[in-house]
Amino acid sequence: MHCHILPGIDDGAKTEQESLKLLQAEKEQGIDKVVFTPHFNPERISLEKFLRVRQESYERLKAAKGFSALGMETKVGAEVFYSVRLVDMDISGLCFENTNYVLIEFPTNVRPYGITHTVQNLIGRGYTPILAHVERYQYFTQDPTQLYDLVMLGCVAQVNAAAVVSGGSYKGVSALQYINWELAHIICSDAHSVDDRPPNTSAAYRLVEKKLGEHYTAWLQKNSLDIFQNKFFDIPVIHKPKKFLGHWR
Ligand SMILES: [Fe+2]
Repeated sequence: MHCHILPGIDDGAKTEQESLKLLQAEKEQGIDKVVFTPHFNPERISLEKFLRVRQESYERLKAAKGFSALGMETKVGAEVFYSVRLVDMDISGLCFENTNYVLIEFPTNVRPYGITHTVQNLIGRGYTPILAHVERYQYFTQDPTQLYDLVMLGCVAQVNAAAVVSGGSYKGVSALQYINWELAHIICSDAHSVDDRPPNTSAAYRLVEKKLGEHYTAWLQKNSLDIFQNKFFDIPVIHKPKKFLGHWR
C-alpha cells in the first residue's frame, strides 16, 4: 500500500518490464495485493493531469505480457505530498481505489503549517489519512506525542519495511518502537526499484515476529487487509509515549 511500481510516472519503475520485475519480487515476499501509490504533489501538477497520467500508466502495466499471470489483486492510489490546499480539493481520486484511505507524506525536517487542521478537515469529510513512513519525520521521532495526537484524531501510521529491518536510521524513536506501542499500524515496502529500494516486507515481518511476537505480525497483516478492503479501522492506541531519563517509553 506504499510503492512506486507503476511504470514511467515518478522516481520508481521506469518501464513495464521493471514494474513486472518489482511485482514478481513482491510476490516472492508473500504479497498478493498491491496498491500503486505514485507521488502526487499538488504544488507541481494538477490533479486532473496526475489522474490521467496515472490511469495511462496503469493501463500500460495491465496490458503488459505477464501481468495477469502474476495473479495480483491491484488498486491505484497515490502518495500525496502534504499541502494545506488539500482542504479545498476533491481528493476522492487519490484514495486507494474504492476506499476512503489516502496516503499522505510530510516534509522530513520541519513540521509543516496546518497539519492538525488539514487532517481534521479530511477526517471530517470521511477520509482516513495514512501517514507515510512516520519513522522519517524528525519532529515525530524526537517527540512521538505529535504522532500520537494525529493517530488519536483518526490517522493511520505506516512504517517502511527497510526502516524496521535497519533498526531505524533516523534519530529518536525507531520504526519497531512505533509498532511496539501500536502507534504504527502497517508495514509497507515503499519499493522503488529491484536494485536500489526493493520489496522487502518479509524480512521486516520476520523481525517483528522475533522481537515482538506473532500477535504483532497478525495484527499488522489484519490492518493491511482491512484497509485494502475498506473496512472500518479501529485504532487501538492506548499508550501515550512519555519521556523518562532522556528516553521515550
Ligand atoms: Fe514513497
